Amino acid sequence: MSDTKYTAPHMMLHWLIAVLVAIQIAFAGGMEAAFDAKFEGIEIGLGWSSGAIFHAILGASIGILMVWRLGLRLTTQIPPPPEAPRLIQTVSRMTHWLFYGLLIAMPFAGAAAWFIPSQIVGTAHAIASKLLIALIILHIAGAAYHQFIAGDRSVLRRMLAR
Ligand code: HEM
Ligand code: HEM
Repeated sequence: MSDTKYTAPHMMLHWLIAVLVAIQIAFAGGMEAAFDAKFEGIEIGLGWSSGAIFHAILGASIGILMVWRLGLRLTTQIPPPPEAPRLIQTVSRMTHWLFYGLLIAMPFAGAAAWFIPSQIVGTAHAIASKLLIALIILHIAGAAYHQFIAGDRSVLRRMLAR
């Protein structure tokens, strides 16, 4: 494995989690509806029909995969950061660690909101999801900047097998 690339397990987890998170965000509506119904006295539950169970299982899976990935990140070598101004390097590092923090904490907050049940914790979970979306946009913009504007195609290749 070249020292200019992430390891294969890290890449596999990166792309798998990216797809699962995109699905989780796109299909959160069922969970939102079920959660609202709880507070209107219509208990539709974590039933298959509401889509809430899908959100709960997928969300918990993302959390577990992210813990696995964090373990990998802390115990294996990653390539040195790409050439970039100091500020960009700091923002990029912060974005990465916030991804780990959010994607591990969000399943707990979501579960707490559902089972307590608590509208305040639900709102915190929803706010975290907005922050997550902002970070994803920033992260993709960063990758696109390196690839298409700075012309440094080696950055995206760090996360690609070839
Ligand atoms: C990393 C994993 C997760 C992500 C990325 C995620 C993402 C989201 C998103 C995007 C929303 C819609 C927020 C909005 O616009 O109002 C949402 C709502 C919600 N999620 Fe999750 N979720 C995750 C895990 C979970 C888990 C495991 C549960 C619990 C079983 C859960 C319970 C809820 C609840 C109760 C709401 C409704 C909150 C409200 O409307 O105030 N989530 N989630
Ligand atoms: C939900 C979507 C995504 C999440 C949560 C995510 C998360 C992450 C995290 C946490 C890292 C840092 C890995 C580490 O050092 O531990 C990373 C690196 C990276 N991601 Fe993503 N990512 C997502 C989507 C994408 C997409 C769509 C692209 C490409 C357009 C991309 C390209 C990259 C690249 C090139 C790196 C390596 C950056 C470097 O070495 O400095 N990611 N991603």
